[in-house]
Amino acid sequence: MTDGIPYRVRMTGISKRYNPIQTLDTVSLTLKPGEVLGLVGDNGAGKSTLSKVLSGAVIPDSGTIEIDGKAVSFASPADARAAHVEMVYQDLSLCDTVDVAGNLFLGREPRRRILGVPFLDNRKMHGLTRDMLDRLGIVIADTRLKVENLSGGQRQSIAIGRAASFEPKVLIMDEPTAALAVAEVEAVLELIRTVSARGVSVILITHRLQDLFLVCDRIQVMYEGRNVAERLIGETSIEEVVNLIVGRKFSARSARHGNETGVSA
Ligand SMILES: Nc1ncnc2c1ncn2[C@@H]1O[C@H](COP(=O)(O)OP(=O)(O)O)[C@@H](O)[C@H]1O
Ligand SMILES: [Mg+2]
Repeated sequence: MTDGIPYRVRMTGISKRYNPIQTLDTVSLTLKPGEVLGLVGDNGAGKSTLSKVLSGAVIPDSGTIEIDGKAVSFASPADARAAHVEMVYQDLSLCDTVDVAGNLFLGREPRRRILGVPFLDNRKMHGLTRDMLDRLGIVIADTRLKVENLSGGQRQSIAIGRAASFEPKVLIMDEPTAALAVAEVEAVLELIRTVSARGVSVILITHRLQDLFLVCDRIQVMYEGRNVAERLIGETSIEEVVNLIVGRKFSARSARHGNETGVSA
């Protein structure tokens, strides 16, 4: 509980082993409603695996997940979606040859019946798409543009917009800005601000540490499958975050004799 309100997400004791690596070792994570949490750590720290556990794509060996105070158990991404947890799978989840509206409504296109036969309601779909893009502040001139003709930033916005359109309580973004031009990053960060202001809790995984300070309320640092630190964003600095990400390596190196951390330097 936090201030009498249950956490939006509470993961406790999450472990996952991919032999021979203990990818996640009794990891915990909490998230409040509307909070933006930056999840950081070196490559291989377990960030993607932890987020896939929350999005139902990976089943942990042990541990518990609560959403709004209720225990849940996800066997698939569909289970997580039913609990209003959405993960943005970068632009890989988009269909290049389908237009913007078609991508946003993929698999749930509005239909209308003519003489009892269902037809795609194109006009409605494009109208709803325009509303959705405007609401999220996504700038795309024409909803009939094929996704293959969009910029990397626009594609990422569509992927986020699609996830946001499922009315999530929790939105997980794994490196959403990794492939973007500098100018496009700001649009994605603004999108994160927009959805979190509407009460959606966001987990942002990024290597762009400066971005954490623009949108996150808090950061959680992982190292080799474990929690190592948590900081409110106002109480830390880029320097400290860098040190937390790599720090144990340094301390392991300098304390090689009698090294009890188990970290190989
Ligand atoms: N499906 C898998 N099979 C085997 N090993 C995996 C699998 N998924 C992740 N791992 C391993 O788990 C560790 C953590 O990976 P990952 O969660 O992707 O880390 P991060 O996202 O922090 O870079 C890595 O050593 C990775 O090789
Ligand atoms: Mg990863």
